[in-house]
Amino acid sequence: MSTISSRPQPSPSSATDPLALVDVDHVRFFVGNAKQAAFFYGHAFGFTVEEINDLTTGNRASAQYLLTQGNIRIVLETPLVEDHPATQEIARYGDGIKDVAFTVFDAEKAYEQAIRNGGERAAEPRTAKDHRGSVTTASVKTFGRVVHSFVSRSGEYALPEVKRGGLFMPGFRKFGAFALNDFNKEHACGLKFFDHCVGNVELGKMNHWVKWYENVLGFSMFKHFDDKDISTEYSALMSKVMASGNHLIKMPINEPAPGKKKSQIQEYLDWHSNTPGIQHLALRTDDELHSVAELRQRGVDFLAIPDAYYEQVWERVDSRLRAHGHSPVKEDHDRIRRLGILVDADEEGYLLQLFTKPLQDRPTLFFEIICRRGSQSFGKGNFKALFESLEIEQGRRGNL
Ligand code: FE2
Repeated sequence: MSTISSRPQPSPSSATDPLALVDVDHVRFFVGNAKQAAFFYGHAFGFTVEEINDLTTGNRASAQYLLTQGNIRIVLETPLVEDHPATQEIARYGDGIKDVAFTVFDAEKAYEQAIRNGGERAAEPRTAKDHRGSVTTASVKTFGRVVHSFVSRSGEYALPEVKRGGLFMPGFRKFGAFALNDFNKEHACGLKFFDHCVGNVELGKMNHWVKWYENVLGFSMFKHFDDKDISTEYSALMSKVMASGNHLIKMPINEPAPGKKKSQIQEYLDWHSNTPGIQHLALRTDDELHSVAELRQRGVDFLAIPDAYYEQVWERVDSRLRAHGHSPVKEDHDRIRRLGILVDADEEGYLLQLFTKPLQDRPTLFFEIICRRGSQSFGKGNFKALFESLEIEQGRRGNL
C-alpha cells in the first residue's frame, strides 16, 4: 500500500497562512566534533555526508556538515572559536539538538506572525544570497535550549532542488568523493523522513508548552497520555502530542511524573543542566525489519527488549487488530523477536518501533526507528515494556 508512508501535503490555501509548514527543513545538532559526528551518523545510520561549510568555504566561525537520507536533512555544527554560541552550549549540555527548522513560504512573515503570537526572538530574519538564489531564516525560542527556525528558499536553493541534490544554502559545497557514501548507497538503511520529534520539559511545564505550540505556532493537540498510561512501578511521565496544521510534524511534549524512583525524563534533565531539550527524533521507514537489521549490522546499540515482552505481544496486538477489523501483523513474528522490535496496535492499525540507546555519553538524545501500518499512535502499549528495559539501563548507570 503506497499510502502508508505518504506525507500530508499543505493545501494550496495554506500559502496564505504564514505559519503553514511546507516541510521539516532540517534539524541542526550542536556537537563537539562535527567531523567525527558526521562519520558516526554516516556509518551507524547510513546518512550520506552530502555537503560541508567550513574553513575551506570561508566559514571561520564553525564547521557544518549536511547529512541526508530520504527526506531527512541533519546539519551537524561544531564551533571553531570560543565566542561562537555553540561553544557555551556544548559545555553546558553536551552534544544535542539546537534547532528543528521548518520550511515555510516566507520566513520573515512566519517569524513576524510567531512574534505577534507571543513567541520570543532567537534570531532576526536574515537572507543569504548568491547567483544561485537565496535562503531567508529567522528563529524563535521554544523550550530550553531549542529554537525553531523558519526557512524560505528561492532559485536553486528551493527545497525540491535541494532534494534533487542541489546545494543546501549559500556557503555550502559538495563534500566530494567519500567511500562511506558509496557504501551507504549499496547498503541503504531505508530511513525516509522525520516522523516526530519529542521534547522533555520540567515537572509542571507540559501544559505551558502545549499552549505555546497552540498559540505561537498554530499547532493543535493530537493525542495525550497521562501517568496511568505511561508508567511502571518506578518511573512515569505525562505526554501530550502537538501536531502542525497539516500534521506534517508531530511534537510530543513529556514531563516527568512522580514514581518510586527517578523518571527517565528527570534523568534527562539532570544530565542536561536542568534544561528542557529534544529527547528523541523518530525516523520513519517503510520496512522496519530491513532498517533495524541493517542498523544492527552497522553496530547501532538499541535498547534490549526483555524476552517476556514477546510472550504477550502477539495476543495483545493481533487481538486488538482483529477487534477493529484489521489483518494481523504481516511481518515475520520470529524475525521481529530476533531483531528485538516493539509492536503496538490501535483502532487504525499497527506500528513497529525501536529505540536506540543515547547517541552520546550523556543519557540525553536518542533515535527511534518507526514504521506505521495504519496506526497514527506512538506505541502507548509499549511504554511499559519500554520503561522496564529503560530502567534496567538506568540502573546500570547508577541513576535509578
Ligand atoms: Fe517516539
